[in-house]
Amino acid sequence: MFFKNAGNDDHALPPGPDSKRKQMPLLPLRDVIMFPHMVQPLFVGREKSINALEEAMNTDKGILLVAQRSAKTNDPSPDDNYAVGTVGAIIQLLRLPDGTVKVLVEGKRRARILRYLPKNEFFLVEVEEIDEKSEVTVEVEALVRSINATFETYVKLNKKIPPDMLVHVSGIEDPSRLADTIVAHLTHLKLEDKQEILEIEDPAKRLEKLYSLMQGEIEILQVEKKIRARVKKQMEKTQKEYYLNEQMRAIQKELGEKDEFRNEIGELEEKLKTKNMPDEARDKVEREIKKFKMMSPMSAEATVVRNYIDWMLALPWNEVTEEGYEIADCERILGEDHYGLDKVKDRIVEYLAVQKLVGKLKGPILCLAGPPGVGKTSLGKSIARATGRKFVRISLGGVRDEAEVRGHRRTYIGALPGKIIQGMRRAGSNNPVFLLDEVDKLSSDFRGDPSSALMEVLDPEQNYMFQDHYLDSDYDLSKVMFVCTANQLQNIPAPLQDRMEIIRVEGYTEVDKLQIAVGWLVPKLKKENGLDEVDVTVTDNAILHVIRHYTRESGVRSLERELAGIFRKIARRVAKEGKEIKVRVSNKNVPTFLGVRKFEFNECETTDQIGVVNGLTWTGFGGEIQTVEVAVVPGKGKLSITGNLGEVLQESAQAAMSYIRSRSADLGLEDDFYQKFDIHVHLPEGAQPKEGPSAGITLAVAIASALTKRPVHCSLAMTGEITLRGRVLPIGGLKEKMLAAHRAGLRHVLIPKANEKDIAEVPDKIVKDMTIVLAEHMDEVLKAALVGGEELLARVPMPPRSEPKPEPATDDDHEEHVPGDMPTHVTN
Ligand SMILES: Nc1ncnc2c1ncn2[C@@H]1O[C@H](COP(=O)(O)OP(=O)(O)OP(=O)(O)O)[C@@H](O)[C@H]1O
Ligand SMILES: [Mg+2]
Repeated sequence: MFFKNAGNDDHALPPGPDSKRKQMPLLPLRDVIMFPHMVQPLFVGREKSINALEEAMNTDKGILLVAQRSAKTNDPSPDDNYAVGTVGAIIQLLRLPDGTVKVLVEGKRRARILRYLPKNEFFLVEVEEIDEKSEVTVEVEALVRSINATFETYVKLNKKIPPDMLVHVSGIEDPSRLADTIVAHLTHLKLEDKQEILEIEDPAKRLEKLYSLMQGEIEILQVEKKIRARVKKQMEKTQKEYYLNEQMRAIQKELGEKDEFRNEIGELEEKLKTKNMPDEARDKVEREIKKFKMMSPMSAEATVVRNYIDWMLALPWNEVTEEGYEIADCERILGEDHYGLDKVKDRIVEYLAVQKLVGKLKGPILCLAGPPGVGKTSLGKSIARATGRKFVRISLGGVRDEAEVRGHRRTYIGALPGKIIQGMRRAGSNNPVFLLDEVDKLSSDFRGDPSSALMEVLDPEQNYMFQDHYLDSDYDLSKVMFVCTANQLQNIPAPLQDRMEIIRVEGYTEVDKLQIAVGWLVPKLKKENGLDEVDVTVTDNAILHVIRHYTRESGVRSLERELAGIFRKIARRVAKEGKEIKVRVSNKNVPTFLGVRKFEFNECETTDQIGVVNGLTWTGFGGEIQTVEVAVVPGKGKLSITGNLGEVLQESAQAAMSYIRSRSADLGLEDDFYQKFDIHVHLPEGAQPKEGPSAGITLAVAIASALTKRPVHCSLAMTGEITLRGRVLPIGGLKEKMLAAHRAGLRHVLIPKANEKDIAEVPDKIVKDMTIVLAEHMDEVLKAALVGGEELLARVPMPPRSEPKPEPATDDDHEEHVPGDMPTHVTN
């Protein structure tokens, strides 16, 4: 394509107003728009077109160059051509040997087709030439400048335009010509766009349109350039990495590391092939192995990736242990592993029976709740044994961070999966019994709430796709049998408790403990200490002595520890003196094994005292004796309460005081007694925080005793809530409290009448050993508790009371007293 120099005269066609309408042949063009001032070589092959050229040559009238709407049309009809074209003059014509023609044409001016004249050999048309009046206004001048600048940018971006075009274009002053010259060079413009510009008669409008098209083009070119640069950079980077990797490999080979590394990768790939895991997880591992291959084996990242792959491959995704258990076997195994606990075992067996019948674990989660050392954890183990599942246990005590349950994202240094996934890895199968120990010791703070994560774990609707942050892929926990344990139910978040079936495991009586020691602990310890073949006897009295003087607990944990102490000492002797020796542990020689006694059997006061009362309390650690002391000194009526009491207890003390004031006459007190004395209530063992309403009557009795100077029966323990009117309200944990009283050697207990029904839960042995006084009103309490109280509250009939029995002898010189109907038992 050529352009005539700006200064050159046009190869003029005869002008004149009447000569505006002309007849000339038409040459349809494919894929090119001819503009005025443009010189363009064309190859012409179609017969009609060649005829048109010949006609033009012969008549010298010029030829109309019009673009076809579609380049594909071979034999265009008038409708297939645009209506506006450029009148051209033929500069040169060359016939080629194959019959086609090469022609060089120059565009002259725009022309519109008025009509097609009948002619078969070629298109003959009547046209009207378009006058182009170029007025150079300020606006046009501004447009010309912008166009020049934009064209410069365009040329810089588009490498296909020779830079000297810029010089040529900048020399053009006529705006119409400028527009036509530039548009012919915009190589990327669409044919329609070019045609549109051709059809705009007003040069200013044409420039405007051109300007906007050029801006669009420039934007595209800029983006193209950016992409090109980016691709180039990427190519360079991969090339560089490849090169460095190759170099590294060469170095590794020199160092002999390579083979090991390759072996390792081979092993991982092999493992992955044989591992039964879900597709999602498999994809992840595959991707990581691919990454791993590219890494230097010594790098920190490689270790991270390697760890992740290890975790994924080690987890039991689909491995299950067969669990074809029979309910009868479960009953037997639970019985073998634990003494007593009949109700608990029944509940567990029922639960297992349901699971077996239903065939899946959609039921609630078992939660074993009770004081320490009563066998909750070991019951969990027993369930696993009974159902033939694996057993894992995690402790949730002190877990305060959600990430401990759910793991850390891998982006953290030293990240690991959470406790749940760690437990699953240890289990090695995906249907273990999973013991969540101490759910009541969870705490939450700003690091997130672990209980909400746990909720997801325990919810059968959600836990088939448990999300651990570290694994970052769903893990199916739905086959896991979760069992929780807790000491204090009130500390378990309510929504969590809601998902659980609570089974209470209660404290043991002395008799239970003796049985457990004889039947379970002693044989177990003997074995553990390698004393199976040694003649060791531990008498029942010795065990009882340990229970009474070395432990004070609801469960048997300390007992087990103390007995273990005895067996360790025996083991030491055996190791020194040989297996032939005979050892007999009796209550007399226990101190030689365990040192001096830690507790007195009956630690309570042995004489009736003024202002001192034995209360019974109940905590997560079981029942306990809580002594209340009250001192009355001359003063101004101040009531002070010490001993680390919670709010409820403080209020109980106030209520007790109000009750006594309301009964001052009956108690023989002056009306204004409370203005003359200061009353100090103290609950010893100040280090222990104390809470709960069940000390109400104890406080009232102690205050009444101190004010009336009447002593309180020292062998009586009591529990009950008090109202302002002196009514005695029921309390919880009766069994544990009775056990505690029995443990402490107190043989009389006073309890609210409303708790009478709970006596059924207390072991018969305890009930038989003790006198139980039921009270509905504080008057009855005072009468039973105060020595001589009968006279004070004469209006109320006296409930029958038995005298305190002498305490069992615990003197080392005598055999220990074995409670009532215990079979005497000697282990060998
Ligand atoms: N009824 C029982 N029969 C046989 N052994 C028992 C019985 N109860 C407890 N034990 C034994 O007592 C020991 C302590 O029990 P375990 O650790 O299960 O207590 P726990 O209830 O889980 O206590 P904690 O609340 O402190 O975790 C274990 O060795 C267990 O075997
Ligand atoms: Mg436990």
